[in-house]
Amino acid sequence: MKTRDVKISNFPKSYSLVVDEGGLGRSYQFEQLSADRIEESIELEQGAFSNPWSRQLLLRELGKNNPLNIGISKRGRLIGQSFCMLLIDELHILNLSISREHREQGLARELLSRILDKALEMGARSAILEVRDSNKVAQSLYKSFGFDFLTRRSSYYRDNGEDALVLSRELKSSISSDLQPPKGAVLTRAESSLS
Ligand SMILES: CC(C)(COP(=O)(O)OP(=O)(O)OC[C@H]1O[C@@H](n2cnc3c(N)ncnc32)[C@H](O)[C@@H]1OP(=O)(O)O)[C@@H](O)C(=O)NCCC(=O)NCCS
Repeated sequence: MKTRDVKISNFPKSYSLVVDEGGLGRSYQFEQLSADRIEESIELEQGAFSNPWSRQLLLRELGKNNPLNIGISKRGRLIGQSFCMLLIDELHILNLSISREHREQGLARELLSRILDKALEMGARSAILEVRDSNKVAQSLYKSFGFDFLTRRSSYYRDNGEDALVLSRELKSSISSDLQPPKGAVLTRAESSLS
């Protein structure tokens, strides 16, 4: 692996990014979702959730021309997606998933970072979401982005009666990438001594 110095917007200092020359991160496209991805979207959704959104619901969301509905493709194939809604100045993260074989590579982190950047640009001042009590992986992701516990919704999920945790964060001028550099990035020696 090689390293190169990069400056990421909103991150306070430049740092060295470990670049996997095999193409990790560089071979993924992040783009707004549209209805022509419906079949792939369904497949992704069904592979990610025990109680997946229906075709009808996915079609409705895909048809919204919403810049906050973002897909990740690799070689043209949809491997990640997110659906969000901006209610006045509050971002609602409704759905976010990465296909199993592409997890733990920093893709959700990158996707969430882009969502928050876009939402901020569109006037969001806060972000809110619900997550299953048992979904510790997603909770860890959101907490690393500064989301805090707001409240618990008892027996929120119909399939198993599980509680939902409501997590939220303010957006203001600070953004996701202020909190943590993207996965795969390492601070240089000089910067790692900064608080
Ligand atoms: C949750 C999900 C989106 C994470 O996607 P991912 O691309 O694997 O996540 P990333 O590689 O970007 O990791 C981001 C953070 O998530 C958490 N995380 C990811 N995989 C984890 C694991 N196996 N165990 C614990 N934490 C994990 C960590 O906090 C991680 O940060 P770190 O690598 O600095 O420790 C993915 O597991 C998924 O699609 N799950 C099913 C759908 C779902 O639960 N969606 C969220 C609904 S609210």
